[in-house]
Amino acid sequence: MGDEGKRRAAEAALELEEYKESEVVGIGTGSTVAHLISLIPEKDFEEKTFVASSMETALSLKKRGAKVLEGALLDKIDIYIDGADAVDGEGNLVKGGGAALFREKILASMSDFFAVIVDESKLVESLKYKSIPIEVNPFALSYVLRKLREMELRGEVRKAGSGKYGPVVSDSFGIIVDLDASDWKEGIEELDRRLRNIVGVVETGLFIGMADAIIVGGEEAVVRKLSRRRV
Ligand code: A5P
Repeated sequence: MGDEGKRRAAEAALELEEYKESEVVGIGTGSTVAHLISLIPEKDFEEKTFVASSMETALSLKKRGAKVLEGALLDKIDIYIDGADAVDGEGNLVKGGGAALFREKILASMSDFFAVIVDESKLVESLKYKSIPIEVNPFALSYVLRKLREMELRGEVRKAGSGKYGPVVSDSFGIIVDLDASDWKEGIEELDRRLRNIVGVVETGLFIGMADAIIVGGEEAVVRKLSRRRV
């Protein structure tokens, strides 16, 4: 299917009433979002203001002529649209494949409506079998890795594939650690709580009960609206 599913999901997001009525729009990071940015109608760049979860997205939006604000200037946005690395049956997510999870979680939290756009390959039974990224303050890296070992989680510092030796540093200057939590015995919410309790963990890539709509692009785009629990 290639990228068709991603494109269909992105198209459907732009048809949401919540998007059409919005004034301030948050845009995430990744290849699905790249489709979204290319599909945003020209007139929206005159009528709406945007905020981006990464420098890459901010630059792409700017290239299309968007007004892009810094997150620091905003305390609320109307809608946030982003991709995900995995989505379970309850609409919980793993995010952070593009190392932007910290800003993504801030934008998702400050949004009135959080729409997730994915293709069918992202649907999973359980999030714990996916690699779960966390962002770690560099000063705390060795300590956090020790705490992860104590929780019997395997943590791997993410390395850049090319162009840089050493760890991937996020746009917020954190180190990304990818976790193998497949042996975790308790629920995913407990995993998230325990991880966030470790001093030095800036954020986790687990987005639990945060999405308002999951849009899955396949042969067509299926929009599922959820009642958000907000944790
Ligand atoms: C970025 O940090 C991630 O959370 C992305 O949302 C995620 O990796 C989805 O990316 P794709 O749309 O490229 O699959």
